[in-house]
Amino acid sequence: MKIGLLGFGVVGRGVYDITASRDDMQVAKVVCLEDIQLPDAEVTRDFQKVLNDETIDTVVEAMGGLHPAYEFVRSAIEAGKNIVTSNKALVATFYDDLLPLAAEKGVAFRCTAAVGGGIGWLSELERVRRVEEVSMVGGIMNGTCNYILDSMTRLGLDYGEALRQAQSLGYAEANPSTDVDGIDTWHKLILSANVAFGVSLEKASVPAAGISRISAGDIANFKANGYTCKLVSHGTQKDGSYTAYVQPTLFPQGALEAAVPTNFNLITLDGEVSGRQSFYGQGAGRYPTAYNVVQDCVSILAGKGFYCPYGKKVSADNSVKLRYYVRGGDNWIAENAAETWGDAVVTNPVAVSEMHAWLKNNPAAFIAAIAE
Ligand code: HSE
Repeated sequence: MKIGLLGFGVVGRGVYDITASRDDMQVAKVVCLEDIQLPDAEVTRDFQKVLNDETIDTVVEAMGGLHPAYEFVRSAIEAGKNIVTSNKALVATFYDDLLPLAAEKGVAFRCTAAVGGGIGWLSELERVRRVEEVSMVGGIMNGTCNYILDSMTRLGLDYGEALRQAQSLGYAEANPSTDVDGIDTWHKLILSANVAFGVSLEKASVPAAGISRISAGDIANFKANGYTCKLVSHGTQKDGSYTAYVQPTLFPQGALEAAVPTNFNLITLDGEVSGRQSFYGQGAGRYPTAYNVVQDCVSILAGKGFYCPYGKKVSADNSVKLRYYVRGGDNWIAENAAETWGDAVVTNPVAVSEMHAWLKNNPAAFIAAIAE
């Protein structure tokens, strides 16, 4: 396999290092803006050099961002090249465009590193699907949020200090809003549900609430009531009906999720035959992420394409009801309140869709569902 590598940052450099000692694949050209020299790859700023090189059969996109990553990936598919990417925003945003195109052109498209970094989550879903239906996917998919929540809970750090630490350790996206507002987890949930259920989720039907409004007082309220807060995704399918949402969630202190430290991820599926399976590991970082990029290249050499056939467009129906912790409520919240926790309330069961619609109109509030 001859690889055209787009980007030489955290992930790109890792891919180059891991492939350097392999004889089944070679990074032939690297497209990046820095002036670097590599012993056995041509470095260029010009993507056309990769596109026009007929000996390059696979493009590894490790640039991040939507543009020009989308234009480069699209034209590489058009030119008949396989794609491997770790870019969840790219794949989730352009799923309905890129996946049918890849199928039409007969090229492989893989993005295992996009969800769970070093965890082989999407390729495991591909394997699970060979034997059984998946009824649930979800869990802790963002290392930055887990690092912040864990530091606030275990070390008593305030939100700003915990975020600064996560940024300095290189976990956070360039714009931390992508992490703390739940957008990164939202991309990862959409990709996971699409693969697990063989559908294309209507993105507008999948709400996301983040952690940017959480306070030390909230953490104290959770501790006093025996809970730990995590940002989690949740997607289900049953009889042709789907749920999908991202939100802070309170887990009993003895739950597996509550024990996940620092920037680790814990992603879970429920299979009709195998039951519940959880996958724990590094969701970010150079070598864990590059590891799964290289795994994807090996899978392509073994003849694999995408993880599932491109599926029909479906909307999530989030009418399922959950109890919520709400700080910063109004009359509607007061009418639905069942308990008081410090300066916040816990509601009676409220539809997830209704709660997220309320939060949109009350963006200064903090909400967390209580895990059932
Ligand atoms: N910013 C992401 C995280 C990186 O914190 O998990 C990996 O997607």
